[in-house]
Amino acid sequence: MTGVSGMDDPGSWGNLLEIALDAAAAAARHIVEDRPRGPLEVTATKSSVTDIVTVMDQQAERLVVERIRAGRPEDGFLGEEGAAVEGTSGVTWVIDPIDGTVNYLYEIPSYAVSVAARVGDQVVAGAVVNAVSGETWSATRGRGAWLDGRPIRVNAAPELAMALVATGFGYGVARRARQARILGTVLPRVRDVRRAGAASLDLCALACGRLDAFYEQGLQPWDLAAGGLVAEEAGATVGGLQGRPAGEAMVLAAPPGLFDEMAALLAELAADEMVEG
Ligand code: IPD
Repeated sequence: MTGVSGMDDPGSWGNLLEIALDAAAAAARHIVEDRPRGPLEVTATKSSVTDIVTVMDQQAERLVVERIRAGRPEDGFLGEEGAAVEGTSGVTWVIDPIDGTVNYLYEIPSYAVSVAARVGDQVVAGAVVNAVSGETWSATRGRGAWLDGRPIRVNAAPELAMALVATGFGYGVARRARQARILGTVLPRVRDVRRAGAASLDLCALACGRLDAFYEQGLQPWDLAAGGLVAEEAGATVGGLQGRPAGEAMVLAAPPGLFDEMAALLAELAADEMVEG
């Protein structure tokens, strides 16, 4: 059945993906090409002094919102840097203008623009652009996931001891301390661990076989929306622990044959118990 907006018709999601790709690519060019020369100004901090916002995060979010709004004035927006518009079309754009802001600050070439379209509670299209390499991951719900236009799949599930696992840390001290303790138990059980610094890129790396699993507590909708859909459409299971959905308490993404074992290990460690951060 088609809802009032018609946007719950999967036939319309390809168009939303085109819009996401266009906006993400434009913002990615902006943050690289128009980065101020010299030290980058940190304009604000959020949850802790290391949780930074730069002038470029703010500009990139504005650029994405304005570009999409020009063609779709009735849509809603939810952005990491404050975009919060209800909208009346049934579509909400979920935006991380620079995922990996600390990498951006240090010029580590691993940061991305993430743009996703949500209809109701469901992310239906998403694009993640590595701003430096230009690598572009995309997905539409039910249609698959792509890297630079080529279809991608997660790896066949390895056994836990052979799994390359990525994770990330929150910015608050208490959460980080607990995440470090949990990692101390996870690390000896797996092949190795990576912490690349941009959750959307971790999820996309998993989607194209550069990782076997990813988990993190504390992710916000903009960290998860596009990358989570890419991972899911590439064949990953994306969820929380003990049958709960992925969310702030825990995002775990892995091929189905590894997900349960990883989830059991993390559940044993109560890795989804919320800690401020
Ligand atoms: C952060 C990155 C990082 C993750 C943090 C996120 P931001 O996003 O995705 O990898 O560990 O939890 O907050 O702040 O760079 O947009």
